[in-house]
Amino acid sequence: MIRSLIIYSTHYGFSKKVAEFIETILEKNHQKVDICKAEEVEIHDLFKYQHKYIIAPIRYGKYSSNMTHILKHFSHLFSLKDTSIISIDLASRKREVNTIENNPQLAMIWKRIGWIPSSIFIMPGELNYSKYNWIETKMMQLLMCIMKGPRSLDTNEIYTDWDKLNTFIEKTILIEKQV
Ligand SMILES: Cc1cc2nc3c(=O)[nH]c(=O)nc-3n(C[C@H](O)[C@H](O)[C@H](O)COP(=O)(O)O)c2cc1C
Repeated sequence: MIRSLIIYSTHYGFSKKVAEFIETILEKNHQKVDICKAEEVEIHDLFKYQHKYIIAPIRYGKYSSNMTHILKHFSHLFSLKDTSIISIDLASRKREVNTIENNPQLAMIWKRIGWIPSSIFIMPGELNYSKYNWIETKMMQLLMCIMKGPRSLDTNEIYTDWDKLNTFIEKTILIEKQV
C-alpha cells in the first residue's frame, strides 16, 4: 500500500479543505494517507512516505514562514519527483499569471526558496471578505484593485477548479504506480 503525506499551512482554513479533498482522492485509490500542518512536521518521519503533497497558500506575497523553512532547508527531501506542490493564491485566477514563469510573485517566492519543483499545481483559492479583519480587508481590496477582481465586501467566492485539481492528483497517483 502506498503511503502519502499531505502537509499544509492555512490561515483561514481553505487550504485544509484542499488537503481533505486530496485525502479523499488518495484514499479512494487505496492509499494510506496522513495529514499534518507545516508547523507539526517531523522531518525524520518524511522517509516513511512514498509521496508528499505540499499545500501552500500565499499571504502577502509569501508562503507561511514554517512552510518556507521546510521547503528551503529540507529541499533534498522535496525536490525529487515524489513531491507535488499545490500552490494557492488569488493571482492565478487569471490564466496569464498561472505558472512560475509568468507569475512574478511565484517566481520570487521560488527564487528565495532556491529550487524549482518538478510537480506543481498553481490554483486560485478563496476570497471571502467576511473572514478578514479591517487591515486584511483593505489589503485585499487593494490587491483586487490591482488584479481587477471583486472589491465588494459581500464577495464570498472560491475560484478553484476542483476537476482540474482532481486530474492533477490522479496523474500523480498514476506516476507513483509506475515507479
Ligand atoms: C491577508 C491575505 C493576504 C493575501 N495575500 C495574497 C497575495 O499576496 N497574493 C495572492 O495571489 N493571494 C493572496 N491571498 C489569497 C490567499 O492565498 C487565498 O485567499 C487562499 O485561499 C488562502 O488560503 P487559507 O484560507 O488556507 O489561508 C491573500 C489572502 C489574505 C486573506
